[in-house]
Amino acid sequence: MSKKLVLIALAFLAFSCKKESQESSNKEEEQNTVVAEDKELAPEELGKVIFEGKGNCISCHKTDEKLIGPSLQEIAKIYQEKDAKIATFLKGESEAIVDPSQFAVMQANLTLTKTFSDKELQGLEAYIHSNLK
Ligand code: HEC
Repeated sequence: MSKKLVLIALAFLAFSCKKESQESSNKEEEQNTVVAEDKELAPEELGKVIFEGKGNCISCHKTDEKLIGPSLQEIAKIYQEKDAKIATFLKGESEAIVDPSQFAVMQANLTLTKTFSDKELQGLEAYIHSNLK
């Protein structure tokens, strides 16, 4: 074999190894995402995960007493009474009805919640309502 052929063969080998390791790390990533987010959680369970996790809502909202924001029970009660949709508020498509005078504090979070999927927003809504039970 000429030197040139050997070099081409080596280059080819190196390339195909690299591709394989990239593919397997993609697969790992996929599996991790499934474990973290999907795993067929009930909507309110998915909502709880987001509320305490990437949403970080828990830093301002507690179940039964006011923290920086209103309690989840108060939010759930008012949304139930007015037959309003929390998911719509979190998409930035409806007005604050719980404590409009403090809306500016909540508004900053809508930048984040607007990036959530409908399934995630439905989950948050279900989780907030579940605190009334
Ligand atoms: C920095 C503190 C803070 C964080 C973080 C925060 N909130 Fe709020 N939230 C507030 C305050 C203050 C209000 C009261 C103002 C208002 O009613 O809009 C509020 C109000 C709300 C309301 C009632 C809105 C209405 O109709 O008046 C909902 C629903 C809500 N938050 C959900 C969430 C969710 C879900 C998250 C996480 C993605 C979150 N909040 C994160 C401070 C926060």
